[in-house]
Amino acid sequence: MNKSYQNIVILTGAGISAESGLATFRGANGLWNNYNVQDVASVEGFARNPTLVHQFYNELRPEILKAKPNAAHLAITKLQKEYAANVSIITQNVDTLHEQAGNENVYHIHGQFDQYVCLNCGHIFHNLNDITPQTPCPYCLVKGRLKPNIVFFGENLLYMDKVETLLETCDLFLSIGTSGTVFPAANFVQIAKKNKAETYEFTLEETSNNFFFDHHIYGKAGETFPDFVLELLKRT
Ligand code: OAD
Repeated sequence: MNKSYQNIVILTGAGISAESGLATFRGANGLWNNYNVQDVASVEGFARNPTLVHQFYNELRPEILKAKPNAAHLAITKLQKEYAANVSIITQNVDTLHEQAGNENVYHIHGQFDQYVCLNCGHIFHNLNDITPQTPCPYCLVKGRLKPNIVFFGENLLYMDKVETLLETCDLFLSIGTSGTVFPAANFVQIAKKNKAETYEFTLEETSNNFFFDHHIYGKAGETFPDFVLELLKRT
């Protein structure tokens, strides 16, 4: 951290929401210890058993709705308000804690928990109610074609054109709370690095793609990231 930056990209994963009370996917108490990822988060799983997939997201929704942004989300708001750079957030999280904290320029590459898409008419709509395979689309009224607007394994990520531009032009890449195991997001650091960005990761433990990071800051993001932002602001 020895210069001022113009274009900052922050990649976030489940770890940034852990201190808000939301479970991560991997590790002790991870969601994927209790559910088979291929059953509830893949195109094939959804085709095989949509009832199970709807039930999974119907149960997750109230948990997400209870959560409030934590100090790491709020530190991003501070950075966006007080540091003279473009700061963009690429999040793998389907919660909306970034928005609740007042973060701007947020790209949900894995979709959002509060949206559904109708596979019949293509409408994407806001929804906080329980959904079953019998629920009709509020637009075309056809039953059985609603899908959580969440990117399942086997589907393309959202906003990828914008994301590529952000990665190719950033001079500081910060990764917070992601294990670096799910591609292509795990590869974003490599693209940023290739374009000479300085790279930091904030995580509890060593990640799968740690060799691409210049700096590793271990600990709870709600503690480490606000300190990092203060340090950055001091150097402007
Ligand atoms: P993971 O559960 O794989 O990894 C969470 C990471 O956060 C780990 O590296 C932890 O060390 C770290 N962590 C946990 N608590 C933390 C804290 N308080 N502060 C800082 N770091 C902490 O979650 P993701 O990498 O986000 O996709 O998983 C990527 C994707 O896998 C998810 O978006 C999801 C899943 O399948 C979909 O559902 C589409």
